[in-house]
Amino acid sequence: MKKHIIETVLEVYDSVSELPKNAQILMKKAQLAREQAYAPYSKFKVGAALQLANGEVVLGNNQENAAYPSGLCAERVAVFAAGANFPGVAVEMIALTVRSEKHKVTTPTAPCGACRQSLAEYEVNQKTPMLLYFMGESGKVVKAASVKALLPLVFDSSFLG
Ligand code: THU
Repeated sequence: MKKHIIETVLEVYDSVSELPKNAQILMKKAQLAREQAYAPYSKFKVGAALQLANGEVVLGNNQENAAYPSGLCAERVAVFAAGANFPGVAVEMIALTVRSEKHKVTTPTAPCGACRQSLAEYEVNQKTPMLLYFMGESGKVVKAASVKALLPLVFDSSFLG
């Protein structure tokens, strides 16, 4: 038996004002996108801003549905919009933020597992890491160097043969 240790290094910033300028600007866009989320059921609004290699910024927010599972997370709305409108263009940086109407979110909120998997599909294809910054409504911001850092043992097309 062999042990295999998986390590992920995350950087934690005390507040958004400590981020590099380009990340601050992207986070501001994610916050604006967040406020336009359609989240009447959970009251939990999520905003995503994707900086593309061609200079475009693609926004997404969660879109809920009365038939609950038919809704979609902000990250997937954004990455699918990027894939639809700018196919083959690399995503360089992602900013994510959440705000709940029920409680103040100060804990950095990482993308859910399904969104990590969806993002990973594009990260694997583009062969360059997507830098991620995620936060709550306020407070600390976490930086992850890649989607892979948040999803070790990723399932990708290489397993399909
Ligand atoms: N949500 C996202 O948009 N992204 C995530 O990574 C986690 C959850 C949304 C889905 C749903 O509309 C609401 O947040 C509560 O789960």
